[in-house]
Amino acid sequence: MKSMKPMMTLLCAAQFCLATMASAAPLSITLPPETAAFKPSALPGYQLAQQKCSICHSADYIAFQPPGLSLAQWTAEAGKMQHVYGAPISDQDVSMIGAYLAVTYGSAKASDAEVQAASNPVAAQPPAVPAAKADPMALLQNNACLSCHAIDHKVVGPAYHDVAARYVNDPQALTKVTSSIQHGGSGKWGDIPMPPFAQLSAEDLQTLTTFILSR
Ligand code: HEC
Ligand code: HEC
Repeated sequence: MKSMKPMMTLLCAAQFCLATMASAAPLSITLPPETAAFKPSALPGYQLAQQKCSICHSADYIAFQPPGLSLAQWTAEAGKMQHVYGAPISDQDVSMIGAYLAVTYGSAKASDAEVQAASNPVAAQPPAVPAAKADPMALLQNNACLSCHAIDHKVVGPAYHDVAARYVNDPQALTKVTSSIQHGGSGKWGDIPMPPFAQLSAEDLQTLTTFILSR
């Protein structure tokens, strides 16, 4: 899987490092570093970054950039992920994520007019047409779920088939899995976290959970 390469490199590097250190001296090692998570922010790009910038690599890649980068530089960086590496993000995502990164990791201020404009593109959009009955595959596609999940094999996250199998005899399955999608989490399937999808409506959450648990 091509898109997994940076993540794999990182994990293998850490393992190698651990092995080497273990044989050298009994040092205590603290894992994981806090740079592995995105810094919280009230800007809407924070959620988008959690959801769409950890598909291929961890947030370390962002934390290790030089400090003080401008809005234009961070927006260009997000744009590079879209154009060069094929990150599944829209132009609007690029603007919103760029604004979040520039304020949180760079030189921009949340009160800057450019940051405000980039973070609130909704005003410029035509009113949303109320969707008919939400189609689960479209919901999975539109929310980048399929960048990290497949129905029948593990990608970054577990196969939906395996999720369904794990909860098949659990009477709390619907509640638990809905909560996992809404709030994210980690440790149930491995060390890589599942980002929160707090913006999904109750109806969409239910459509997704029902679909996944019936795989
Ligand atoms: C489709 C996979 C993919 C996604 C999604 C992705 N990246 Fe990357 N990113 C890469 C690759 C590949 C590299 C280069 C890795 C390397 O050099 O080891 C990279 C490198 C980086 C770097 C290091 C500097 C550089 O330009 O090489 C930063 C910062 C970065 N990404 C930020 C982001 C941000 C912000 C997002 C979300 C908008 C994102 N990435 C989403 C694949 C991705
Ligand atoms: C950036 C990658 C990524 C994205 C995007 C993503 N997931 Fe996940 N997902 C994961 C990972 C990693 C796990 C395993 C977390 C753990 O070990 O607890 C997971 C776990 C899950 C689980 C199992 C939860 C449980 O309680 O056992 C479900 C269901 C799920 N994801 C659904 C979704 C849905 C629906 C979407 C889109 C709205 C989505 N995921 C988007 C990475 C992702």
